[in-house]
Amino acid sequence: MSGSPAADARTPRPPAPPSGPRPYALRCDHRTTPLGTDEPAPLLSWRLESDRRGDDPVAYRVRVAEDPRDLAGGGRPLWDTGRVADPDAVGVVYGGPALTARTRYHWRVTVWPAGPTPLRPAEATSWFETAMADDLMTDHAATGADPWSASWIAHDPRPVDVVDAPTDGVVALDHHGLAPCPTLRRAFSAARPARARLYVSARGLYEVRINGARVGDAELAPGWTDYHHRVQYQTYDVTDLVRAGENVLAATLADGWWSGFVGFEPRRAGAHYGTFPQLIAELHLTGADGRTTKVVTDPAWRTATGAIRHADLLMGECHDLRYAADGWDLPGFDDSGWSPAVVTDTDHRLLVASPDEPVRATTTLLPRTITRVAPGRHLVDFGQNLAGRVRLRVPALPAGGRVVVRHAEVLDGTEQLYTANLRTAAATDVLVGDGRANVMFEPRFTYHGFRYAEISGLPDVDPSDVVAVVLHSDTPWAGAFDCSDPGIRRLHDCVSWGQRSNFVSVPTDCPQRDERLGWLADAQVFLPTAALNADVAAFFTKWLRDVDDARTPDGGFTNVAPRLAGVDDEGAPGWGDAGVIIPWHLYRTYDDPRFLARALDGMRAWVDLIHRHNPDLLWRKRVGPHFSDWLAPGTPTPRDVIATAYFARSARITSLAADVLGERETARRYGELADAIGAVFAEQFVTTGPTTGVTADETSVRIEGDTQTGYLVALAFELLPADLADAAARRLAELVEQAGPALTTGFLGVALAAPVLDAHGRADLAHALLRRTDHPSWLFPLRHGATTVWERWDGWTPEGGFQAASMNSFNHYALGSVGEWLYRGVAGLGQRPDSTGYRHLSVRPHPGGLTHAGARHESVRGAIEVRWTRDGDRFELRVQVPPGATADVRVPTTDPASVRESDTRAEDAPHVTPLTTGRDHALYRVASGAYRFTSVYADTSPTARLPHALRQDRRRPSPAAASFAGTHEEDTP
Ligand code: BGC
Repeated sequence: MSGSPAADARTPRPPAPPSGPRPYALRCDHRTTPLGTDEPAPLLSWRLESDRRGDDPVAYRVRVAEDPRDLAGGGRPLWDTGRVADPDAVGVVYGGPALTARTRYHWRVTVWPAGPTPLRPAEATSWFETAMADDLMTDHAATGADPWSASWIAHDPRPVDVVDAPTDGVVALDHHGLAPCPTLRRAFSAARPARARLYVSARGLYEVRINGARVGDAELAPGWTDYHHRVQYQTYDVTDLVRAGENVLAATLADGWWSGFVGFEPRRAGAHYGTFPQLIAELHLTGADGRTTKVVTDPAWRTATGAIRHADLLMGECHDLRYAADGWDLPGFDDSGWSPAVVTDTDHRLLVASPDEPVRATTTLLPRTITRVAPGRHLVDFGQNLAGRVRLRVPALPAGGRVVVRHAEVLDGTEQLYTANLRTAAATDVLVGDGRANVMFEPRFTYHGFRYAEISGLPDVDPSDVVAVVLHSDTPWAGAFDCSDPGIRRLHDCVSWGQRSNFVSVPTDCPQRDERLGWLADAQVFLPTAALNADVAAFFTKWLRDVDDARTPDGGFTNVAPRLAGVDDEGAPGWGDAGVIIPWHLYRTYDDPRFLARALDGMRAWVDLIHRHNPDLLWRKRVGPHFSDWLAPGTPTPRDVIATAYFARSARITSLAADVLGERETARRYGELADAIGAVFAEQFVTTGPTTGVTADETSVRIEGDTQTGYLVALAFELLPADLADAAARRLAELVEQAGPALTTGFLGVALAAPVLDAHGRADLAHALLRRTDHPSWLFPLRHGATTVWERWDGWTPEGGFQAASMNSFNHYALGSVGEWLYRGVAGLGQRPDSTGYRHLSVRPHPGGLTHAGARHESVRGAIEVRWTRDGDRFELRVQVPPGATADVRVPTTDPASVRESDTRAEDAPHVTPLTTGRDHALYRVASGAYRFTSVYADTSPTARLPHALRQDRRRPSPAAASFAGTHEEDTP
């Protein structure tokens, strides 16, 4: 299937035993064998697979031990749940004796099958390792038991090195004092260790080497958090890097988010946290005798600056090889001319183990074309808008000669990079030569959002010398989607690339301009899509800490997290509410109530805050700003309508969350509040009138403003009684039809459109929206060469050219929130509204004129797959349901009596229970396992006879569009 790196191939599957459901993909706190967790009670989870129907688990047992031999029968594990009869469980929170820091724990899960006794239980084994500290930082502060002995160290922070700003006529950068990257080294002698661990962090960014070999593969580590609240450290297994004799532990630091340019306000480096980067590290060497010695950051370290003259996330990076000190990271280097490290402090209180996977370079892209645009200037098109950087082999460069790499997402009409939309982000990397040949140039502490790179300073650029390196937080890919329409398929690719490009330590709005902030609403609307594409549980575990850290003194969620001066106000409707909505969605997806337990206080405080300011339950008094339905074209939705709807939604979720956590009184209170807000919403904003509809008993409903988003929030958040909901859905459909059919929604409305239309029987309209190719539509940008979802429906149009450069990203994921419905509505892979952790699937494909579609998702419970094909009137639907789950399967059919499952009448098929039939479907409940339904289905969708969406568009692109888009096969007549 398209656009999908191999689904989490890292966990080896156990060989299939003659057993019941087999556990695989064991996870500790949603990560595979994490090295360094400081969670005192981690969640140990597993997925299940089986080749048989109805092969469900009935019980599990988890054992945890330091010595793997204690996991076997007769062993003495540290913790043993015993046999727990729980057919739903796919995880258990550790509940044994306190875990010890810096220790590897092995664990085994045993799963008993529900089937007849000859089936044996199946087992799988994994491990996790605790971090530097044995508990979360807050407990440390309380007990005073500080496990760290290292100091924070820096290169002499005085501004002795003047930045060699590359002002060579090609670029003119004013770096406002960016300083060269410090290099730090510590030589030490050691015996060959039996085990070595490096615990390391930076205020800034670090890259560590031992004896010249790079430690780990994390990029932009330690990641971005609000450094006033917490600084993450990482743990590395470096046993194989330390040798007997002299060794060198070496680090390069860069400003990163700590002391570089961040966001857009104020415009100077180091405005938010610190002004120069610092390192903290402890190398623990344990001998065969169990004794541990340490090498820690302290004044004995030597420091200098080297070839990296500046490195900044927004501005770019400059390597001047004339400053390179070859061998500085190897033993034997003479560092007598270096300065002693400066100790800045020994404060360890904010250090926490990072709970997510780091940013990694996950793939590289070859150039699609390289064009010489002027002597010594080449334009490289990588064919894909991405976040990352260019790796370039420079065959020869004289001393002082320069290669400059500039980046852009799109070209202007004259084959030049279009950089106006980057605002102040220079996104320029520079290499200055020292005469040596064959230099591999790749910046290490920056990233750019780009598809095109312009390389100046080389007479030729050979295609084999240049690649784009793709960077993003390494969320294991967990989904795949495919369908017969190439346009929709490519839309899924665009959505997926938008996700990759914008999950970079935090979920950012965009990867290219001077912003790249963790805007809450963007993340909220996109999460359902993101969580189908990838396993984002650990990524959001981390970011929800940022969201929590960002809360204002009176409890409000913010608009961005990490919170930043200049954008630190209380959250707007739909933005602040993300602090409530995101944990709820994560709980439902990953079946981990700790998402709710950690968030409940914040949820309550947020709802209380709005309530305090708006005792009449209409959210009219702005607590923070109001972004309305951001970037909606056409008539704006009244702000109070959006705000009050979100108020009701947040109150409702707070109630549901409290209920899950067993806090009945809280659940009741917020439930009543949600009801009351809903009633006020209806009273204030909803008017009903006499019938205008097709049948006499149809009431008409108007929601104030009469905009699509008004109806969408009211319906999606269930603010209307059933009869009014139907009428409101009819009005919504009318508005969509009148507009094109098209959407007039912005960031908030767009996510709800297809799901709400589908829920109210208008999946046909959702399909029509998907197929639309004029703006506003998802396929309009694709017609003009988009490879990621645009920030604006009309980021570029043939009539108007580029939208205002001040805000026009070509890689924003918010409008891509339709990605969820591709899985759920087109392919039909979803879970029932009352289900968590995919316990009860809802398989509801909507063919909508397509001839095939399919989706796969590696859920917390196991692999789910739905695939269907339509051949004339014959419909075939294949469904894979993981052990322990059931699925309600809605088989499209115009003749329910025709439905068969694996060549038997469906009602007679094993593990299939008929539920209901309708005009165009028959509904069955199935147990776990694989099924193949066939039916007679005469697809009457209006799109059924049309060729695929992009082929409908026969217009020739304008010359500007052609140069903007590059060649685009589907647009050519
Ligand atoms: C960001 C959006 C964000 C919005 C809120 C924009 O600058 O790019 O993603 O949600 O601001 O106003």
